[in-house]
Amino acid sequence: MDKKINLDLSAPYKKTVETIANKPIAYETTGTPFWDDEYISKSMLALHLNPDVESASRAHEFMDYSVDWIVSLLGKQDGRILDLGCGPGLYAKRFADKGFSITGIDFSQRSIAYASENYGDEKNEFIYQDYLTIDYDEKYDLVILIYCDFGVLSPENRMALLKKIYRGLKHGGLFVVDVFTSNQYKEFTDSLTVEYENDGFWRADPYINIKRNASYPNQNYLVQYTIITAEDCATYNIWNHGFKPQEIKKVLLNTGFASVTLYGDVTGANLTDETPIVCAVCRK
Ligand SMILES: C[S@@+](CC[C@H](N)C(=O)[O-])C[C@H]1O[C@@H](n2cnc3c(N)ncnc32)[C@H](O)[C@@H]1O
Repeated sequence: MDKKINLDLSAPYKKTVETIANKPIAYETTGTPFWDDEYISKSMLALHLNPDVESASRAHEFMDYSVDWIVSLLGKQDGRILDLGCGPGLYAKRFADKGFSITGIDFSQRSIAYASENYGDEKNEFIYQDYLTIDYDEKYDLVILIYCDFGVLSPENRMALLKKIYRGLKHGGLFVVDVFTSNQYKEFTDSLTVEYENDGFWRADPYINIKRNASYPNQNYLVQYTIITAEDCATYNIWNHGFKPQEIKKVLLNTGFASVTLYGDVTGANLTDETPIVCAVCRK
């Protein structure tokens, strides 16, 4: 006799079952706030501020080298900088210490509050907003978008943001951006795993974390977290893309930049076939 599974999909598990049953299409979002979530942003800020952990920001010592290198590319000790996705202002602080004026944009209220409180003054401002929704004027000597966030955006949003960045730069200004290459995903395998936490990164209360790794055509990758608590179920889709060096160069040149030079990281390392990162330095 066939055993009938009685799954009442109007029940609380409907959302969970549907999420796991259906892989999203590439770059589909769930609309659930991640960076700006009241609790997750607290966990995230602790990661940003840990000088050695590399999950939200790079190691702080690496940032020191990055800022020294970028300043050497600028070839001057003052000017206006736009930091897109500035987090708690860790790069901003370093540039400000060298004499630059910073505008930091981030849509994590908690990070912006931290940056404003610690580094905000008459020269340095931190704005809580989605950087895709701002029209920038031609006033920046440098725009940075650091820690591989460009590939997190859908291809349409990447194009829209590049146009805004280009417009926001002075003639001769620099845009510095880093992205993952496919080497970053050499070990990436499709998988579905389940973990239980009493409390942790995602929630203060007990939760189950169903993590899905899924690779898509054209070097697109999804890391999806479905977090189930006693009360609710929420899913976070984190996308990224493994860029070929010539691919990112072409996209940036097509935006109108006069020159694009590629490096192996944001301290100016040589680009090799093995590097997991490409850093592009673009001059308007
Ligand atoms: C991986 S963290 C990197 C933070 C910083 N650039 C660093 O390296 O320390 C990405 C940051 O970008 C912000 N972010 C992501 N998408 C954004 C958007 N559309 N508008 C504004 N901020 C955004 C997040 O809130 C987060 O602080």
